[in-house]
Amino acid sequence: MLVSFILSAVNVCIAIIVINICRQLLSLNRSQPPVVWHWIPFLGSTISYGKDPVGFFRTCRERYGNCFTFILLGKRITVALGERGNDFVLGGKHTTFVAEDVYAPLTTPVFGTGVIYDCPNDKLMEQKKFFKASFTAQKLASYVHTIADEVKGYITAELPSSGSACHEWLTLSVPKTFSEITLLTASHSLQGVRVRDSLTKDYAQTLVDLDHGFTPLHWIIPGLPLPSYWRRDAAHARMSRFYQQLIHERRSHGNLEDHQDIITDLMQQQYRDGTCVPDHEIAHLMIAVLMAGQHTSASSLSWSMLHIAQCPDIQEALYQEQVEHCGGSEGFLGALRYEDLRKLTVLDSVIRETLRLHPPIHSIMRKARSSIPVPATLASPSIATLDSIATAFVVPKGDIVLASPMVSQLDPTIWVDPERWDPYRWHDEEGMASAARKKYDETDKIDFGFGLVSKGTSSPYLPFGAGKHRCIGEQFAYLQIGTIIATLLRHMEFRLEGAFPKPDFTSMMVVPMTCSLMYRLRRTT
Ligand code: HEM
Repeated sequence: MLVSFILSAVNVCIAIIVINICRQLLSLNRSQPPVVWHWIPFLGSTISYGKDPVGFFRTCRERYGNCFTFILLGKRITVALGERGNDFVLGGKHTTFVAEDVYAPLTTPVFGTGVIYDCPNDKLMEQKKFFKASFTAQKLASYVHTIADEVKGYITAELPSSGSACHEWLTLSVPKTFSEITLLTASHSLQGVRVRDSLTKDYAQTLVDLDHGFTPLHWIIPGLPLPSYWRRDAAHARMSRFYQQLIHERRSHGNLEDHQDIITDLMQQQYRDGTCVPDHEIAHLMIAVLMAGQHTSASSLSWSMLHIAQCPDIQEALYQEQVEHCGGSEGFLGALRYEDLRKLTVLDSVIRETLRLHPPIHSIMRKARSSIPVPATLASPSIATLDSIATAFVVPKGDIVLASPMVSQLDPTIWVDPERWDPYRWHDEEGMASAARKKYDETDKIDFGFGLVSKGTSSPYLPFGAGKHRCIGEQFAYLQIGTIIATLLRHMEFRLEGAFPKPDFTSMMVVPMTCSLMYRLRRTT
């Protein structure tokens, strides 16, 4: 009985695989982008994409061109690569290329209702505009001091370096150390000291539970009856209550001006129809900002520090430019100020180059709400511009459409020696990096409601995305990562022992595999 059941099951599986192979061989619908060859239906290319998305995209590009479809756990994902692919997806109409349809199953249980992707796009644009008040030059200047102090406090309290071991080389864990520093500095500067203290003590486990609910599995199969889903929901409820309580206290004490942070800024904002932002939405926006900034910035900081540790000459250049621009003398540098930070060009290039090589987000996705024609110039870039209105394929309604600026940021036909981390490429006036930056700076600007951003969605370098969904945190991220690196290097030297870690693509962001760095206090400290 059991044997015959197993035999029938095997036969059914074989039949499904054979039908799948025949369908692909016959390639029934030539008006649609080619489908990446796969043996097992439903599973499709999930393993290849999950293990190394960029390697997978490159291999597919060689075989199918810039536009192709692959199967990810039963979902059809149509990829558009290159500068034109970035433009196609990120510059597409938001009513056709819909972000919320893709991201909401992942983000709404974590962030909460009424915000970001759990609301119409117009409302999201208004919410993004609210944050402008927290990223003015004056506010940013005040964050530098807070961030630098947090880093100094962390070095003293968390990194063993006192007594006789003072100038010996010691080891730190990269992901742990840099995500803790990112959390402390972002929460203190943007959300105030009360949030900073609570997040690290009472809410440490809550954050972990939220984090564990923000994975590819939770996105692809929402609502599974598993502990990680229950813990995520409980953590969200706890966090939401915490923020709403804080807002309530501030309102009842009437002392908003004592707290110069995003919570206060949001409490003073109004939607276009005159309604104030409800407390639960403020709470959920705070969770969203925390989650959106934490992993992206922690990953960028980790990669930056790994490269700096591997390149002693750049480490020295980063220290010497502080000696040159920050006042004081070697070993007794003046306090880091916002104005100084802007003069530190090597530091700026280190972050820029790290974001080229290691953008934390490798796949930017939208859902096609209607069928979308793919221009022939995107599918086959060799076609002359005269044919630019010709259509190569049609992406069917319901497909997920994906752009990967990471592929164009590593494209050897665009960048010289693209796999090499070389911050100085951004100083070469004739080089591609300068051209990409100039293109961005000189392109007309547009305001989608949350401030002026470049109109250009067609660029090989887009670590912060482009178009309506462009990141709001770019300036803060540069300031935060820059201040942390500058402060660490004033007090410590770093060295990488062993091989440079490979990227781990299994979480939502591209992070380095678990690894460690050697550090010691500077003799002048
Ligand atoms: C969106 C990258 C830091 C808040 C995005 C997107 C990218 C990105 C690529 C576009 C996603 C898409 O189009 O689907 C980064 C990187 C960061 C960073 C590389 C740091 C190195 C931050 C920070 C904040 C933030 C610090 C908050 C303070 C947001 C928000 C969105 C977003 C709210 C959603 C915008 C929308 O969908 O309209 N980010 N981000 N990010 N980012 Fe960032």
